[in-house]
Amino acid sequence: MKASVRAWMGGFAAMLVLVCSHGYAQTNTTVEVTVHADRPGAIIHPEIYGQFAEQLGHGIYGGIWVGEHSATPNIRGYRKDVVEALKAIKVPVVRWPGGCFADQYDWRDGIGPRDKRPVRMNASWGGEDDNRFGTHEFMDFAELIGAKTYLSINVGTGTPREMSQWIEYITADVHSSLAQERRANGRDKPWKLDYVGIGNEMWGCGGSMRPQFYADVYRQYATFVHAPEHAPIVRIASGANADDLGWTDTAMSMAGSQIDAISLHNYTIPTGDWKHKGSATEFGEAEWMSTLQGALRMDELIARHSAVMDKYDPKKRVGLAVDEWGNWTDQDPSAGDAALYQQNSLRDALSAAITLDIFQAHADRVRMANIAQMVNVLQAMILTDQSKMVLTPTYYVFDMYKVFQGATYLPVNVQAPAYRFGNVSVPGVHATAGRDATGIVHVALVNLDPHHADTVHLMLPGIKGSDVHGHVLTAPEINAINTFDHPDRVKPAAFGGAIFKQGVVTAVLPPKSVVVLDIH
Ligand code: AHR
Repeated sequence: MKASVRAWMGGFAAMLVLVCSHGYAQTNTTVEVTVHADRPGAIIHPEIYGQFAEQLGHGIYGGIWVGEHSATPNIRGYRKDVVEALKAIKVPVVRWPGGCFADQYDWRDGIGPRDKRPVRMNASWGGEDDNRFGTHEFMDFAELIGAKTYLSINVGTGTPREMSQWIEYITADVHSSLAQERRANGRDKPWKLDYVGIGNEMWGCGGSMRPQFYADVYRQYATFVHAPEHAPIVRIASGANADDLGWTDTAMSMAGSQIDAISLHNYTIPTGDWKHKGSATEFGEAEWMSTLQGALRMDELIARHSAVMDKYDPKKRVGLAVDEWGNWTDQDPSAGDAALYQQNSLRDALSAAITLDIFQAHADRVRMANIAQMVNVLQAMILTDQSKMVLTPTYYVFDMYKVFQGATYLPVNVQAPAYRFGNVSVPGVHATAGRDATGIVHVALVNLDPHHADTVHLMLPGIKGSDVHGHVLTAPEINAINTFDHPDRVKPAAFGGAIFKQGVVTAVLPPKSVVVLDIH
């Protein structure tokens, strides 16, 4: 033990007693975390806190859009409660309209008077889509919540001409017929289109393409992404499924010079079996462990894809956009027609926190990430039922972590005993840190162990602070959830378990918890 740590251990004993009297398990693990403010890394792109909203289930209809005449309080048709909740977490970017849905989407279906729009089958996810939510509704929604815009382009069944006309319709400031059509449909000023994804999962639902073929298709489409001079559009190539490094290699070698970013999709399936993914709420410690282990895998995936990209792009001009990630469980038994609806527990909160930590550690390459998905679909921020809304444990992690948006990444070194279950073991504590523009250092600490508290000694070389505050997210059970009747079971609380003494912060992390500290 370092001398500086030993020096204040006496005073710290009182805090341990206090913590135990609040019902945490007896602390029995000591962890050392060093935050290297002396070796600042890249800026943490706010866009890694991005969202994904696909036209499916109740993700858009009922979740975001209820229409102006709905009994649910709304702002020009958008749910007021959802808009406010999303603004509160500073959503930086939203990806729309898919997903698989995007490669069968005709943008012309979603413009003009709503009652005249065609009703189409949703061939990817079932049901019908009457296109009440289209281009204007999406672009205005992004403006309303203050987010950047990311359109997933139909490459699978579309054409480069349809894409370039869609982009012109949205962005043109001239008096072309398309710009005039936009004006006639109610929007005078062009919108800002920030990102386009050239297809989605082109190896699968986007057209079952082989990487060589897709690389040429990408080059063709990328040529026709015409952005206004003052408002460039980032072009994102449809990337690999999980560990398909060959896809990244081929795309980078054949089309790298025209790619601004390449995507990566990875989902964690608690059981590892797509046919029986496991329940979002009824699980034991084995699936707690397998899910957290799945989240930790993101580190290796990014490192390996990034190494392939380095071969062609050692200066890291091309970004990695993890534009679909999260936990995918069996659909909730109560879901009805709400495709891919699943509950969200403390387990989701911890896996989100770990994944965000990993994105931050790779801030030099990961420029965007979009959790799947924003409302009522997969690992959602928000669940709704008619006029009711509940914020999920994952939402609260995004809320606690919003302080990292735009901060400078500070490398962390964690010396923690493993958390073991059966023959599986993972590091017991995960951490990340960043310094924001005002100089405050934020440190997030995740205790993966559901049984034992951890005493963390936080070493802060190069950081002059004297005060520490924080918030903690935890719950009595690993599968604790928020429901419409009990919305506050998993919610952040002020954290009183940290003290700052002689340059070292000591924090007692409750079992299965996420703690974010602000060090002034
Ligand atoms: O997020 C649900 C689906 O998962 C998306 O539509 C698709 O891109 C992925 O396979």
